[in-house]
Amino acid sequence: MSLEINLANKVAVVTGAASGIGAGIAAMLQRAGATVEGCDINEGKSISRVDVTDTLQLNNFVSDVTARRGRIDIVVSCAGSNVFTGAAASSEADWKRNMDLNLTAHWQLALACKAALEASGEGVIIIISSNHAFSTIPGCFPYNIAKTALTGLVRSLAIEWGPQIRTVGIAPGFIDTPGNQTWFNSFPSPEEERNRTVNLHPVKKLGTPEEIGAWCVFLASSYASFSAGTTYLVDGGRSALMQDS
Ligand code: NAI
Repeated sequence: MSLEINLANKVAVVTGAASGIGAGIAAMLQRAGATVEGCDINEGKSISRVDVTDTLQLNNFVSDVTARRGRIDIVVSCAGSNVFTGAAASSEADWKRNMDLNLTAHWQLALACKAALEASGEGVIIIISSNHAFSTIPGCFPYNIAKTALTGLVRSLAIEWGPQIRTVGIAPGFIDTPGNQTWFNSFPSPEEERNRTVNLHPVKKLGTPEEIGAWCVFLASSYASFSAGTTYLVDGGRSALMQDS
């Protein structure tokens, strides 16, 4: 008998759905049958325009989805951005901009969706963290601080809001997205840096947004009902390597 995941009749909210990982997650949840309500600061096809750092906009979006769809079962909090300013050079404004987007907005989205997820009976929150939650690179402060804190948010929501709501995290490694290309573009030869990076991975490739989407499909399904409070590292084996040469 084939094993299939069917998310038909489920309504999923995905933030940052206009690009990269968020777009891949939205596409894969749709392929699994879910009705996806995407939002992003950049408007896209069937994507509502929402700045996730603006709590009023976030609450209005969630109320609108609940009113139109009657329910929310799955929330994937993906919107985020690199703030790589360095520990010495970061201003307080850099710190705040990073925390607002890469930490506070995830908590505010969870709060906005709490009642609807409880009513669902099988509510799931998936928070997109980063491999920077577990190890980092010089200069990536304060982004890594927010991503590390998200692992704590996942734990707290899992223990405080379970069993009605199951919360998990995904920490992607290098995923081929416009956001990641910005990182490669910061090197004198972006192509050389990309090839060097690929070669540092035991799987000899970068991840794709759809691969992270497939993890979301699984984690949102009843097959993952024993998964809670953990942030899963999906990094192509990069962190298994102790030394680069
Ligand atoms: P991306 O830049 O391609 O996509 C991010 C999306 O979030 C964009 O569509 C952007 O408009 C949206 N966004 C940014 N600020 C927003 C705001 N205030 N309100 C609403 N939407 C906003 O980036 P990518 O690479 O797809 O990253 C997505 C998430 O995955 C981020 O949280 C990032 O930190 C995380 N991540 C990405 C990795 C990668 O290798 N690409 C690795 C680890 C984590």
